[in-house]
Amino acid sequence: MAEQQKLRLGVNIDHVATVRNARGGQYPDPLRAAKIAEKAGADGITAHLREDRRHISDVDIEGLMDVLSVPLNFEMAATDEMQKIALRHLPHAVCIVPEKREERTTEGGLEVAREENKLAHFIAPLRDAGCRVSIFIAADQRQIEAASRIGAEVIELHTGAYCDAYAEGRFKEAQEELRRLQEMATMAHGMGLEVHAGHGLTYDTVSPVAAFPEVRELNIGHFLIGEAIFLGLEPAITEMRRLMDEARS
Ligand code: PXP
Repeated sequence: MAEQQKLRLGVNIDHVATVRNARGGQYPDPLRAAKIAEKAGADGITAHLREDRRHISDVDIEGLMDVLSVPLNFEMAATDEMQKIALRHLPHAVCIVPEKREERTTEGGLEVAREENKLAHFIAPLRDAGCRVSIFIAADQRQIEAASRIGAEVIELHTGAYCDAYAEGRFKEAQEELRRLQEMATMAHGMGLEVHAGHGLTYDTVSPVAAFPEVRELNIGHFLIGEAIFLGLEPAITEMRRLMDEARS
């Protein structure tokens, strides 16, 4: 059993950029959102620079590196272009995610087991440069073992299947997904990996995941940015932080 440690909240600001890009121009500004998130208690900021630049832009990443007081978790696909950008900026953490142009969001975890050699070579320079490398994967023993073998320090477990099942009222499946997430978090932690989790989390789904003692960080974006329309960004994040702390106590 893992020792209970503070659970970090990484706020993903991608969808502030989605709204900005719907019109072009300068607002809403993802950097301003990042500073508000810091004030509201975010322990880190997450941003995904996609190959098609549909939300976060190269200029946003440059700006985040300049203005943030908390660590940047830079999400990216395993491509040469992204590796160069990460090595130029040297963010605190790099999270390797799968990316398909036609998907609306990061639909599944990375297929590490099949691409072990390639990924091991891909992450080595990032690690050597001092970035903490995280791999976004499904709660699947094969993928976790492969992530450990390639030298990742962190895995982020994809909570999308759990959140989708919950949102669609398939509560038995949601419970089953939660059980799998818990089991895999325990296993990964036992292997010496730091365990993060995220994707699709909301006020309704965050607590059981936040309660897993092995999970050190949650990355949450879309729901918070949506909720900010009704509550404002700072209160939306403060409430998420409260639910996480309550689940942990
Ligand atoms: N973690 C990772 C690795 C992601 O790719 C995403 C989505 O970009 C998130 C967390 C956050 O997911 P959501 O925006 O659904 O909260």
